[in-house]
Amino acid sequence: MNRHDKSLLSHGLVSRRNMLKGSLASALTLPALSPTLASAAEASEKENIDLSHQWPFYGDHGQAGVTTPPQRHIMFMTFDMTTPTAQALQILLARWSAAIAQLVQGAAVGTVEPSRIGSVGTDTGEAVGLDPASLTVTIGMGPSLFTDTYGLTAKCPPHLRPLAALPSDNLQPELSGGDLSLQACADDPQVAYHAIRVLARIAKSTGAAQTRWTVMGFGRASAGKDQETPRNLFGFKDGTRNLVDASEFNQHVWIKEGPAWQQSGSYQVVRKIKMNIENWDTDRVSDQNQVFGRHKLSGAPLSGTREFDTPDFHKKDTEGELVIPATAHIRLAAHENNQGVRILRRSYNYTDGLNHYGQLDAGLLFISYQNDPAHFETLQRKLGAADALNEYISHIGSGLFFVPPAAKEGSYIGAELFS
Ligand code: HEM
Repeated sequence: MNRHDKSLLSHGLVSRRNMLKGSLASALTLPALSPTLASAAEASEKENIDLSHQWPFYGDHGQAGVTTPPQRHIMFMTFDMTTPTAQALQILLARWSAAIAQLVQGAAVGTVEPSRIGSVGTDTGEAVGLDPASLTVTIGMGPSLFTDTYGLTAKCPPHLRPLAALPSDNLQPELSGGDLSLQACADDPQVAYHAIRVLARIAKSTGAAQTRWTVMGFGRASAGKDQETPRNLFGFKDGTRNLVDASEFNQHVWIKEGPAWQQSGSYQVVRKIKMNIENWDTDRVSDQNQVFGRHKLSGAPLSGTREFDTPDFHKKDTEGELVIPATAHIRLAAHENNQGVRILRRSYNYTDGLNHYGQLDAGLLFISYQNDPAHFETLQRKLGAADALNEYISHIGSGLFFVPPAAKEGSYIGAELFS
């Protein structure tokens, strides 16, 4: 290990295990650490990513991937059932659960190179040699699953139904809905991609379901406890005022009503929100600050000076104008102005490359968890009607899914549906 490697390590920029793996490559290719990089390394001290870390799949509470500190990357996909029988659904959920339990350990799902000549591999192989990278795969169930077709009408969670039409909707059917959802998050994008690829193959091979829509996100846009607040593609810190501790999760995220098997589940809202980033980039930063009600660089509310200052929504300037404008995103979304409604945001930045005009096509894969989807609707109704941000965004995809609690060892997600 050279001096440059040691410096990176002491700043916590990479984990020791991965440093050892990469030390030869970095010695050959990286220039000496510049002062700017050195200070970036200091700033990332809390972000030491340990790619060997694993989150357990089985448990007694909610599924992993809901309140788990957000990993860096996401691959999200929804599916439609193709075989209208409860048995096909049951087999799919059991096989998905068994596969996810393997994947989160960094293990292959079956053979990559079968010994019998002429056989097809079960695992596609692109994650061989990669660490578990804190992979979580969270299974969601759409309202369309709880019908007589599957004998599940009576099992429908009380608040599961299609989301209400909202003022901001510009939804494309091919980017909306789905009988099932899979959210794979990991600190290595190839690990997340591989998980979804393998699970989509299982859906196809069982003949139970087919892919519907997908989004791959490349950077988290929400913060968990002790995580540095990341930035969305508008360049603003996103996730400053999010839910972070267990008592908040118990109050706002985990379901506490209905039959026992639904408790500790949650409702997952997914919105694909296109951002007109090229228009945004031509706007004055002082105006951008007014749109959110925060300062771009520090993340501080316009009424304060530091990121975590509590916004003062009553503060007025010398001319008697509200310092955080009436149309500012944070004023409209804050729990103080919404009868205490709070949701857990777990969003990611995404890109779809270029649009037909050669402009950057990108946005936010907004994901929120709450114990009643009406909480999301309350906030979105308000934002959709008045948010200054609406000039720069468009909600093009949407889904609502019930996320059952975690499976106990030896069982699978949703097993109680069939008992
Ligand atoms: C592209 C779309 C969006 C962008 C770029 C965006 C960005 C932001 C930013 C920069 C903040 C301030 C930092 C923070 O406290 O996290 C924020 C806060 C917040 N946003 Fe959004 N957001 C978007 C969509 C939404 C949607 C759809 C909802 C819910 C319906 C929402 C709910 C919230 C809430 C609850 C807060 C915290 C407000 C507070 O308590 O101060 N956002 N958002």
